[in-house]
Amino acid sequence: MSIATSDEETTRAPHKIHAAHKIGAEVNFGEVNEGKSDFDDIYNAPDPRGYCRALGKLDYRIPSEAKPIFRALIHALQSGRHDPVHIVDIGCSYGINAALLKYGMNLSTFFERYTASGVPALPDAVLRRETAFFDDRNSDGAIEVVGIDVSGHALDFARTVGLLDHTIEQNLEDRPLTDANRDLVDGVDLIISTGCVGYVSDKTFRHVMDAAGDDNRAPYVASFVLRMFPYAPIADALADYGLVTEKLQDVTFRQRRFENEDERAHVFEQLRARGLEPSFEDDGYYHAEFFLSRPAAEAKARPLGYLL
Ligand SMILES: C[S@@+](CC[C@H](N)C(=O)[O-])C[C@H]1O[C@@H](n2cnc3c(N)ncnc32)[C@H](O)[C@@H]1O
Repeated sequence: MSIATSDEETTRAPHKIHAAHKIGAEVNFGEVNEGKSDFDDIYNAPDPRGYCRALGKLDYRIPSEAKPIFRALIHALQSGRHDPVHIVDIGCSYGINAALLKYGMNLSTFFERYTASGVPALPDAVLRRETAFFDDRNSDGAIEVVGIDVSGHALDFARTVGLLDHTIEQNLEDRPLTDANRDLVDGVDLIISTGCVGYVSDKTFRHVMDAAGDDNRAPYVASFVLRMFPYAPIADALADYGLVTEKLQDVTFRQRRFENEDERAHVFEQLRARGLEPSFEDDGYYHAEFFLSRPAAEAKARPLGYLL
């Protein structure tokens, strides 16, 4: 993956997403999601075999595209703040981002582990095998990952095998974090998400930010978001917490292939409804964009292009 950063981008002031740029801010994410294939059954299984089989077939790749960017941000936070870097992954599922960031795995290796012949058939046996596997691997002790998801079985898997340090099973679209869960978010340095905006909206981000704690050390928020979903409502919510949002210009990230012609047609329709031409999606893939929100002073001191 190459990230295009022009001289202009590295020197210009951060681009905040203003209300004037909102396209479809009133969009109902549920409706936009309707034409997307439904993966609810594989999202919430006792182990990731079904998830890896189904999404591997569609070349699901956004955690892999995101990895170098998340790593660059972790590096920046490690040098500028303290160890360990406290990460909250919204819509973390089976802890794939944690596997890539904490254990240095590749996404293809992760998918192969759960789809290769010889994987135990029973969830308990998979769990035992994976607990031993991650126990034996060195993890990056300078990172702590808390995962938030509505899929309790996926969270249980990720926590039990050691991918996630803590898990929060709550739907923050409906209600704020419980007091116990607020403690797990308090002091967060970096909030990440891949493939989850659309399932979650600004409501979830507000609830996480409400618990983030220390105003003097507000977190970075790093989101990979499909082009068919407007990010302006989330950027506006984050602005209420003093964060400035920038979009990485001139680059998109492939998320996965369309499952079928119906899905492709639906995405093209949604993009056009937002006033966007599906020029990238012509290659048969969903495309995501990258947004980073940071405290205004930090955004001013280190432009996004420079940071990455
Ligand atoms: C496409 S998967 C992405 C998983 C992971 N981030 C990755 O890239 O592999 C979407 C995830 O969003 C989760 N999700 C759906 N609705 C949610 C909500 N309201 N709050 C938190 N997570 C949600 C699903 O359970 C699922 O794990």
